[in-house]
Amino acid sequence: MNITIIGTGYVGLVTGTCLAEFGHHVTCVDKDEDKIRQLRKGKVPIYEPGLDALVNKNVGEKRLRFTTDFVEAVPGAEAVFIAVGTPSSRRGDGYADLTYIFEAARELAGNLTGYTVIIDKSTVPVGTARQVERVIRQTNPDADFDVASNPEFLREGAAINDFMRPDRVVIGVQTDRARQVLQEIYKPLYLLDTPIVSTTIETAELTKYAANAFLAVKISFINEIANICEAVDADISALAKAIGMDGRIGSKFLHPGPGYGGSCFPKDTLALLRIVQEHGESLRIVEAAVEVNSAQKARMVKKIRESLGGSVAGKTLAVLGLTFKPETDDMRDAPAVTIIPALIEKGAMVRAHDPKGMQEAAKYLPAEVEYAKDAYDACKNADAVILMTEWNQYRALDLKKIRSVMKYPVFIDLRNVYEPEKLKSEGFHYTGVGRK
Ligand code: UGA
Repeated sequence: MNITIIGTGYVGLVTGTCLAEFGHHVTCVDKDEDKIRQLRKGKVPIYEPGLDALVNKNVGEKRLRFTTDFVEAVPGAEAVFIAVGTPSSRRGDGYADLTYIFEAARELAGNLTGYTVIIDKSTVPVGTARQVERVIRQTNPDADFDVASNPEFLREGAAINDFMRPDRVVIGVQTDRARQVLQEIYKPLYLLDTPIVSTTIETAELTKYAANAFLAVKISFINEIANICEAVDADISALAKAIGMDGRIGSKFLHPGPGYGGSCFPKDTLALLRIVQEHGESLRIVEAAVEVNSAQKARMVKKIRESLGGSVAGKTLAVLGLTFKPETDDMRDAPAVTIIPALIEKGAMVRAHDPKGMQEAAKYLPAEVEYAKDAYDACKNADAVILMTEWNQYRALDLKKIRSVMKYPVFIDLRNVYEPEKLKSEGFHYTGVGRK
């Protein structure tokens, strides 16, 4: 099938590449000339494990191509995915900014040939697909098309696997004709017995927000329980394991930490709250999850200060991991972006390291932050080391070496990677989240 993807950001690029891998002929179109030039040379602008190899393979096998030209990209396509960004609006009110979605709809409208399904892949408020339909209809009254919603559930760092082996695929359509096109696109997944939930467009749009909001609630819940654990001398690791063994609760997303970040949960929870508000309803549990998440970051700053005797002024802090999670270079809404400036404001010096995110981090963090060449370099003469993101590289540190280069052996483990007893036996003062 001939498929066009509009937007070569994270979602568009992964979707386009994986659909090409399924055997479809995919054209990715983006206005960013530099990005398209790089992609044509085989250079992938984001760090996502396995993506560059898959891009190059499919370009080589002539199923994947890149262009800036809608006239080249859209005519002949049987399906067009809109995968442009939907950032929080600049007004700061939490609404999703749909400018790029409608721009894409207008641009593609004039280039449609034959029956085409226009599929929203970006995370968009309920009702957006219908608005896209109106925009296309106004721009090209003769176009033969349907709109559909097909939300993505990709995790950064695991996106290829999530696309190729999803828990489910959600398809929101209003006609059988559109459903058949989407079923054809995802045919390779039918062969793997992947459940396909076929529903209305509005349900599909809301499903995406509900899934992310539920996961955000789960994280905020476990973070608050971790805080209670600290108060009563209980252990969050054993507790999370025990409740997670209940199939109704499930063991995933029960890891306490410095709060959730990234380009999805913070933005999508706020956007969902705006949708709810607009309809005169309430979603207090998600409001609470958002508040708890902000409080968790502030609590981490307090935890770090207390681990250093009440003040970080004049102290050198080694920070390991800056990105919002491992296996990505994404710094959007990373806890580090809130926690590090707060520490610097209180007089700390920060020496940081991240395996992939230092270049991005420099755009988000104060200029005073120094960047180290590895974890040991970051820890040189440090008064404390803070494990902020659980990269594999930090899971088996040479603790003797770390201790020998530090000024004081204070280890603050915001991801509970290490066993407190082990760290104590190595001579560290250990602090985790939700454990003694
Ligand atoms: C999330 C969802 O997991 C995907 O299903 C969804 O498609 C995606 O958003 C999206 O909307 O595009 P992602 O933001 O890549 O994916 O990352 P997650 O693995 O979900 O992690 C989000 C944040 O939660 C990270 O900061 C992570 O450290 C934190 N987290 C996660 C915890 O603090 N504890 C946990 O137990 C799990």
